[in-house]
Amino acid sequence: MAELGLTWVRIGEFAWSRLEPDPGNLQFDWLDRAFDVLGNAGLKVVLGTPTATPPRWMLDKHPDMLAVDAEGRPRGFGSRRHYCFSHDGYCAEAVRITTLLAKRYGRHPALGAWQTDNEYGCHDTVISYSDAARSAFREWLAQKYQSPEALNRAWGNVFWSMEYREFDEIDLPTLTVTEPNPAHAMEFRRFSSDQVARFNGAQVAAIRAFSDAPISHNYMGRTTEFDHFATGDQMEIATWDSYPLGFLEDRLEDPPGHKRRYARQGDPDFQAFHHDLYRSVGNGRWWVMEQQPGPVNWAPHNPAPRSGMVRFWTWEAFAHGAECVSYFRWRQAPFAQEQMHAGLLRPDSVEAEGFAEAAEVARELAEAPEVEEAQAPVALIFDYQAAWSWDVQPQGDGCDYFRLVFEIYRGLRKLGLSIDILPPDGRDLTGYALILAPGLEMPSNTFLDALGRARGQILLGPRFGSKTESFQIPPSLPPGIPGLDVKVARVETLRADMPVSVTGGGAVTLWREMLESGAETLDETEDGQPVLVRDGPLHYLGGWPDASYLNRILTRLCEAAGLAVQDLPADIRIRQSGDTRFVFNYGPSPVVFEGKEVPPAGVIRD
Ligand code: GAL
Repeated sequence: MAELGLTWVRIGEFAWSRLEPDPGNLQFDWLDRAFDVLGNAGLKVVLGTPTATPPRWMLDKHPDMLAVDAEGRPRGFGSRRHYCFSHDGYCAEAVRITTLLAKRYGRHPALGAWQTDNEYGCHDTVISYSDAARSAFREWLAQKYQSPEALNRAWGNVFWSMEYREFDEIDLPTLTVTEPNPAHAMEFRRFSSDQVARFNGAQVAAIRAFSDAPISHNYMGRTTEFDHFATGDQMEIATWDSYPLGFLEDRLEDPPGHKRRYARQGDPDFQAFHHDLYRSVGNGRWWVMEQQPGPVNWAPHNPAPRSGMVRFWTWEAFAHGAECVSYFRWRQAPFAQEQMHAGLLRPDSVEAEGFAEAAEVARELAEAPEVEEAQAPVALIFDYQAAWSWDVQPQGDGCDYFRLVFEIYRGLRKLGLSIDILPPDGRDLTGYALILAPGLEMPSNTFLDALGRARGQILLGPRFGSKTESFQIPPSLPPGIPGLDVKVARVETLRADMPVSVTGGGAVTLWREMLESGAETLDETEDGQPVLVRDGPLHYLGGWPDASYLNRILTRLCEAAGLAVQDLPADIRIRQSGDTRFVFNYGPSPVVFEGKEVPPAGVIRD
């Protein structure tokens, strides 16, 4: 590892059955030796707490600790992540093993950082319908509402005689005859997210008592089930696990032609989106904890990366400000679930294809100047709560919050822009030339105030301010933007194949709003309805724009914001931070850009 040029090694994240083969029988010798071997080779260790994989004996101790699915079936032992976040007994076990590790290794000279658990939410595990979750949810509701009457009023439980007399009458929102009250479902999403933060917070506190090393967690791609900004604020570093080819196949709804074109390179924007998101979750400090080094095992198809892509993805992460890129995994395991998942080494310990590229990029990085840190000119707001509210009430197939924000991110990147992704809080936005908050259903007053102080161009909508905190339509109708005379009188959702054209080019699809507005109309749909209105720098968009309409909207906003845009060749993306600019070719063929030929998998720094 050291010869290759690696400097960090993550270990231990699933090792509970070896650390404690029987309850209370602690076996640290092997881990002591691993720390010594790695430390003596000059490598820094990231120690993972093993709590994503409670061993089999844990179930005998806590038979009711399993997560339960929406049909009421326990999620059984035999893979991983089978615990319920709300189970106090299991949470105490997690704190116990974490404390033991922190005491033993918290000040070890080879320890460089911690990772709590592993990929919260992986395999759909944030939401659990267990008995433990039900009691904790009732308690959470009682704290929040104080009286069942207040809850009934907020949720509108008079509708369909759903009123409760006691908090203990409230069940989890599943197995109802038709959909549960969306207010009920929304509160359960908020609660479930809080339970992740509670579980993580307990581990963080246990580590901090015995260690000063920075603490991180490895998040995932397109995962919105819990508020990552909340857990991010508990720790020093955010990390994420980047599997560009697996994600393209498995997590994106783009058409087959797109998937074929990028099958060996990954989507040109998906990685960058998460780099920018997790930079913000980590309050500036972020890593890639797992980088795909070859074919994976879990997507519908698992092609090998194009030659050069392991180096390319690594460079892209550093261009977006990563402190470290770590590969998953070192050696391909010949046994168990991931035996078909590539490592830097083959199962026979011979170097696999990714090895030489990891070595090459390690050499390049050792010689390259640091990438400067600088604020981007564009702020794109991302809100986990909005993802839940869209999910709870999509109102039409394909109406997905992540997808909307991601398409806007992609539209900005195609114009050559660099972007900061931010939560909708009270932070100062005055440095941004352009601020976009698509789909933000429940903006807080602090965010509205921050927008009021901003000096750039602002694009809000669709669905901005469309729900109150209790999931009701606001009394004076959405969007309720101070300083902008616009009201959403009606909404409709559309099949993806029935776009409504916009005069001047492009269309709105999926989601469309009928606007009543005294503000200036910038664009109308073919039937003469306003779709984009403006008052000064404040813009409201009443629909889901297709790529070509989005391009027109963004180009115009950038012009008003004084931002230079480029119409980039389809496969080229740019990341600019301060005076450092990177150019990436995500395509399968060479592209001439600014007079220079950029080969496939090519990276230029200037
Ligand atoms: C991640 C996980 C790893 C491994 C990897 C496979 O989800 O953290 O443990 O499963 O994916 O690609």
